[in-house]
Amino acid sequence: MDIIINNKHILLAVSGGIAAYKSAELVRLLRKQGATVRVVMTHSALQFVGMLTFQALSGNPVHTELLDVDEENAMEHITLARWADVLIIAPATANTMAKCSHGLADNLVSTLYLAATCPVFMAPAMNQAMWNKPVTQENIQRLIGHGVTMIGPEPGEQACGETGMGRMSEPAEICRLLLAESTSQCLKGLSVLISAGPTREPLDPVRYLTNRSSGKMGYALAKAALKAGAKVTLVSGPVSLTPPEQADVFKIETAEQMYEVVITKAVEHDIYIGAAAVADYRPVFLETHKIKKSLEQTTLTLQKNHDILADVAMLSSNRPFTVGFAAETHDLERYAQDKLIKKNLDMIAANWVGQDSSNALHNESLGGFDSDQNALQVFWNEGQKSLAMTDKNNLAEQLIGLIAERMELKSK
Ligand code: C5P
Repeated sequence: MDIIINNKHILLAVSGGIAAYKSAELVRLLRKQGATVRVVMTHSALQFVGMLTFQALSGNPVHTELLDVDEENAMEHITLARWADVLIIAPATANTMAKCSHGLADNLVSTLYLAATCPVFMAPAMNQAMWNKPVTQENIQRLIGHGVTMIGPEPGEQACGETGMGRMSEPAEICRLLLAESTSQCLKGLSVLISAGPTREPLDPVRYLTNRSSGKMGYALAKAALKAGAKVTLVSGPVSLTPPEQADVFKIETAEQMYEVVITKAVEHDIYIGAAAVADYRPVFLETHKIKKSLEQTTLTLQKNHDILADVAMLSSNRPFTVGFAAETHDLERYAQDKLIKKNLDMIAANWVGQDSSNALHNESLGGFDSDQNALQVFWNEGQKSLAMTDKNNLAEQLIGLIAERMELKSK
């Protein structure tokens, strides 16, 4: 997944192992993804790679001293710990992990670990005998118990000539996992209102008008938003899915009922995602008795429903960041762009439905309504992004990541 983590603050602590040279590449990869990187080093790390290498690659001064007379307030560890969105110790030597696991704070790296309130990762690197020593394993288990995420190590040939467990994971893998973490809690502290599924517009006591929506995309979005740390309210039409336990769920049948819930709740949420396939029209008359088939031909008179999405997007105060869906059978881009503007949306996710297979994004047997898979073309005012055909859970996570990214940029 190619997510750009604009301006995420990543604090890289390098301790003294030969794998320190790989951390130089890690800095380059993280910066390429848009992160801001600051590097701290232990004295023994300086024996392996020069400070200047990390300074040049990170574009920031490198810190090595716990008590630095040149620093204005001599509280560098606290300032750096506050600055970090993520702390990664790579390589994490047996010595540094032992210190961290016991709360020692005798150098800048171990003190930073104690002072950090952000997620902490460690990429261990050491000789295989040191790795296998029970005390090292105990320390690692303690750190995991304290909430540290371990990346690696990998088995293989070691710098000391031995073969076994203890090689530091490759920088690309560390980078991938760090980015996944940076996006995984991307909606922390925010609330998301999601509409899902079809609506049913009753004609008489036994019949209704509806559509093929399964609700799978909306439910996948609810799960993804919860995983991203958001508080989620799900307004759902009739579907055969089980809603996620942590979501606040409102079950409705008609578009009017969905409108009432959504318009009331929207002002209390930071984000509204209209993933429901809302009926555009409802029968004007709801017959109290079952309609009889006496006539050869008959006509239904329909009344236009509220456009819930447009009404939310037009709210004059407490308007949430508003995301719509556009299911189209043709001219996908034109219709989606049109809806983005006309409905005053922040973002629209368009997908192909129906018979038109003239576009590579669309494959009737795979994507769209009632399928487990889908592909989306996402548009916003300044750009667009294609999310390739994949299962709806994965797609939902990518869309949530994109929403978080757009919101963050908009708020700057
Ligand atoms: O205009 P169209 O119905 O194609 O737009 C689709 C988007 O608008 C979806 O996000 C859907 O949830 C929303 N919508 C709505 N109320 C309607 C019709 C559609 O919120 N009455």
